[in-house]
Amino acid sequence: MSSVMEREHQVVMQTYGRTPVTFVSGEGSWLTDETGKRYLDCLTGLAVVSVGHANPRVTAAVTAQMNRLVHVSNLYYTEPMVELAEHLTRLSGLDRVFFANCGATANEAAIKLARRWGQTMKGDACYEVITLDDSFHGRSLATLAATGQPKKQATFEPLPSGFSQVPPNDIDALAARVNDATAGVMIETLQGEGGVVPLDVDYLAAVRRLCDERDIALIVDDVQAGMGRTGTWFSWQQLGFEPDIATTAKALANGLPIGACMATSEKAKAFQPGDHATTFGGGPVVCAAANAVIAEITDRGLLTNCLERSDQFRVGLEALDGVRSVRGRGLLLGAVLESDRAGEVAKAALEQGLIVNAVRPDTVRFAPPLTITPEEVVIALDRFDAALV
Ligand SMILES: Cc1ncc(COP(=O)(O)O)c(C=O)c1O
Repeated sequence: MSSVMEREHQVVMQTYGRTPVTFVSGEGSWLTDETGKRYLDCLTGLAVVSVGHANPRVTAAVTAQMNRLVHVSNLYYTEPMVELAEHLTRLSGLDRVFFANCGATANEAAIKLARRWGQTMKGDACYEVITLDDSFHGRSLATLAATGQPKKQATFEPLPSGFSQVPPNDIDALAARVNDATAGVMIETLQGEGGVVPLDVDYLAAVRRLCDERDIALIVDDVQAGMGRTGTWFSWQQLGFEPDIATTAKALANGLPIGACMATSEKAKAFQPGDHATTFGGGPVVCAAANAVIAEITDRGLLTNCLERSDQFRVGLEALDGVRSVRGRGLLLGAVLESDRAGEVAKAALEQGLIVNAVRPDTVRFAPPLTITPEEVVIALDRFDAALV
């Protein structure tokens, strides 16, 4: 065990089962550990570093902003935040943004907004949010209550009330659960932590119809699937519907902590000054980074690269012995193995110099940077093939 790992074991709360590797630098699709070994990063820090490690444009934007102004709080106006909100409203089709610090806090904002909207429009009893089994919405208490994974919830009860889950892709179950107390329905279009499982397009359309009929806020948690990860800026944009409220986070600032909750004007106006706040949210440095990420994705045609490399990965993975099928969209893919050995295969991949992770006993997740090249995909496939043996 290296000295960094030993020191970590002494002083850091042991909430993670970390993989025994210490990274010291990164460039593009590649990471280097403390021994000098190089790894092709097909996980990007859990679908975060989408425009590549040490991206020069992001670094330049952050450095310039650091030299100019780092923090003033939300008591005042700053330009990078407004620019980012302009980008996000233009790209999402939604009208207003609240900036948070991560996925969980973006979802907290979305849940609070749905509650405020429900209670303002339909009365005090309207505050419940329905989510899906196997969903993942975060680790704060409210987002944990929203998360459809009882194992993660069990040790933290009692959780905040007002949440319940129904099975995904079952519109009758959702319709049966909806009642006058339902303010929102929150879904991921592609359940990332739940195993890289895309929801059916017909189901998503039916959820939209149900929410319209019953006047319920449809919230899309695009924390993992947003910002180009599935080949469109936001995941719903290739699925034929629009949410009322949506969140994004992970890839938004390429590794700096940020989250965003976006909403239509009609929903957003339920928040009044004083209803919600954060000290750091939407700070100039992280927003400058996000503005650079958006410029990078746009100027380098990375949505197109995402879709092309996705096809290359799919075809390549499906041809490998030991892979039964491939799930997912864009560059959020799950290689479903023929047996429950995803953990062992991810470990073997690390040995080969390829970073992926197991999201289910039989499923390995690939979330490479959107900048990955065709040559790098070939390397990833070769190394994964070797790991499968
Ligand atoms: C869909 C989804 N929502 C929310 C979260 C929580 O985000 P964070 O870890 O930034 O709080 C995650 C994290 O994996 C996620 O995948």
